[in-house]
Amino acid sequence: MGDAVVLDRRTHGILGALPGPVPQIVEHPDVYRPAVDSALLCLGLAEEFRSRPSRLSSAIELCAGAGLASLYASRWASTVIAVDRNPAAIAAMWSNSRANGVVLDLRCADVNDLDCSLAADVVLANPPYVPTPSDATRSALGYACNGGELGRDVIDSIIERAPILVRPGGTLLLVQSTISDADRTMTALSALGFQVSVSHTRTIPFGPVMLGRAAWMEERGLIAPGQRWEQLVVIRARRR
Ligand SMILES: C[S@@+](CC[C@H](N)C(=O)[O-])C[C@H]1O[C@@H](n2cnc3c(N)ncnc32)[C@H](O)[C@@H]1O
Repeated sequence: MGDAVVLDRRTHGILGALPGPVPQIVEHPDVYRPAVDSALLCLGLAEEFRSRPSRLSSAIELCAGAGLASLYASRWASTVIAVDRNPAAIAAMWSNSRANGVVLDLRCADVNDLDCSLAADVVLANPPYVPTPSDATRSALGYACNGGELGRDVIDSIIERAPILVRPGGTLLLVQSTISDADRTMTALSALGFQVSVSHTRTIPFGPVMLGRAAWMEERGLIAPGQRWEQLVVIRARRR
């Protein structure tokens, strides 16, 4: 098993506010290291489960990466399915579930290609949402961030599948940047009949990937001139 991931100060600070110890996560060079977006999703998740009867709900984490939110979900949900297209993420989640003494049902799959019978009471996602030039390099870590020209390719796939994935009375929690148009996500989910709200937000300075694309995003009008920050938003969509 690899070394434990060292979480950055902001991420650790958010997770430190949640009850219980921060799960152990193993460092893997080809797997997204949990960051502020991952931690905000866990905050939304903890709040969601506080309002549900303990251990009666099922959870699915899409785009699960190292599985941080799945590990938290296993504290409250009766079953947790964790899905990622990256085989290295599946291997990392296997190590992480063992390190934390929990059982996760791991599925190596693309969200565009999910088993139609997959559904749960709580569906979580921190999908790739960074706007991406068409000539960006492809790599496992690229797939973690690269969301297509508007940052919405995987977000839109999840929205399309939400009515099947989320059971009646269940909730979708999705974290994204406002730069990939969080309003559009909320409008699309409302149009599908979900009751939509924002559960958590955080404004953060650009990290290295966003900084590397800042000039390109300015040219395309995705950010204001000189903007070097983004707002992360956890969207909560409740199926009636
Ligand atoms: C931003 S990372 C988030 C990882 C983790 N959920 C977290 O919050 O730390 C996005 C993840 O989505 C996965 N991914 C990207 N495109 C996908 C797709 N089409 N289907 C399934 N997983 C995908 C990547 O492999 C990566 O692990």
